[in-house]
Amino acid sequence: MAAGTEIDPSADDAGESVTATVVGGSGFTGGELLRLLAGHPNFEVAEVTSRSKAGKSVGSVHPPLRGADLRFTEPDDLESVDVLFAATPHGVSMGRIDEFFEVADTVVDLSADFRLESEAQYDEWYDGHDAPEYLEKAEYALPEINRENLEGAELIAGGGCNATATILGLYPLFEGGILEGDEQIVVDVKVGSSEGGAGGGAASSHPERSGVVRPYAPTGHRHEAEIEAFLGTSVAFTCHAVDMVRGASATSHVFPDGPVSKGDLWSAYRGCYEDEPFVRMAAGGSGVYRYPEPKAVAGTNHAEVGFELDPSNERVVVFSAIDNMMKGSAGQAVHAANVALGLEEMAGLEFTGLHPVGAP
Ligand SMILES: NC(=O)c1ccc[n+]([C@@H]2O[C@H](COP(=O)([O-])OP(=O)(O)OC[C@H]3O[C@@H](n4cnc5c(N)ncnc54)[C@H](OP(=O)(O)O)[C@@H]3O)[C@@H](O)[C@H]2O)c1
Repeated sequence: MAAGTEIDPSADDAGESVTATVVGGSGFTGGELLRLLAGHPNFEVAEVTSRSKAGKSVGSVHPPLRGADLRFTEPDDLESVDVLFAATPHGVSMGRIDEFFEVADTVVDLSADFRLESEAQYDEWYDGHDAPEYLEKAEYALPEINRENLEGAELIAGGGCNATATILGLYPLFEGGILEGDEQIVVDVKVGSSEGGAGGGAASSHPERSGVVRPYAPTGHRHEAEIEAFLGTSVAFTCHAVDMVRGASATSHVFPDGPVSKGDLWSAYRGCYEDEPFVRMAAGGSGVYRYPEPKAVAGTNHAEVGFELDPSNERVVVFSAIDNMMKGSAGQAVHAANVALGLEEMAGLEFTGLHPVGAP
């Protein structure tokens, strides 16, 4: 698709060829999806939609795709493809999901439309749901916690970026028996401005965002619903908008009931992530990058996870960092699609990052 990256499906090593449409391809996550699919050995992008940019080349909106032979089309009349990625605002996919399945076998939705399990949860946390009959069919897009169910899945729900960072940080404490579900958990997430999408709004404009560490949705953030659903316990969750473009960094304070050693923590985290291709541990050690931070994973589908013990307060503090555009959305979507379709899990996602690099 992009100049120099076109895949020849007839080549011996090209493997299975998968056609894809990106609905909402002019936005931030849509652009990242297109960039990833351009470098993917199996995917071939057939169509990319945008109402406001219809007729324009994708490279005119997304600089990494300059030279790509592909133009935005209107989202009304979609072609038949193998996989449809929807990178649209909340509410769009649930309204068009029947139509999406008429043109694609697999739908990967990056919005919040299919993340929760029941209509009642959508009534509580959102403004209800237009197609609740699909909720049971949807699989959460995090292979680290849901790989088996993703295999062969037809409807994949991309996780929220703040929720993804938080869940990846805390999940091993539950799996490893360090937390049981009745302990207090306090989570503070710092996020970059791209989380607000290309439209952004006043809070994401450069003069307003520059230099800020600004609490937003200090209580009742919608991602709390996902976190609680997957961890099976309540969390006290707050977000800060900070002065970076990419990244989500979650700091979770947990207070286990019994004594915990560093060895217990290492075995819990290694037990979950030792074989995971996209999770790196960073828990102390030496050098500048001793704990997870978004800068270290910018542009990659990797999550970094780490922890520290605070015996005097009987606290474990957990750190997790992702790139919200990648592991928090587009990268996670491609990873989940790879698993669902039985492709190489890391296909199209091998990039491990840059160092040194400026603020992401
Ligand atoms: N940004 C993040 O860090 C992040 C992380 C995880 C999940 N997500 C979720 O991913 C989705 C996309 O986020 P984003 O940041 O990429 O948003 P964005 O930059 O605002 O892009 C939205 C895209 O959807 C298209 N669109 C808007 N309304 C539409 C409609 N009614 N029908 C068809 N297309 C429509 C837009 O193009 P036109 O208006 O030109 O059609 C644009 O291409 C959102 O649901 C968001 O919550 C975002």
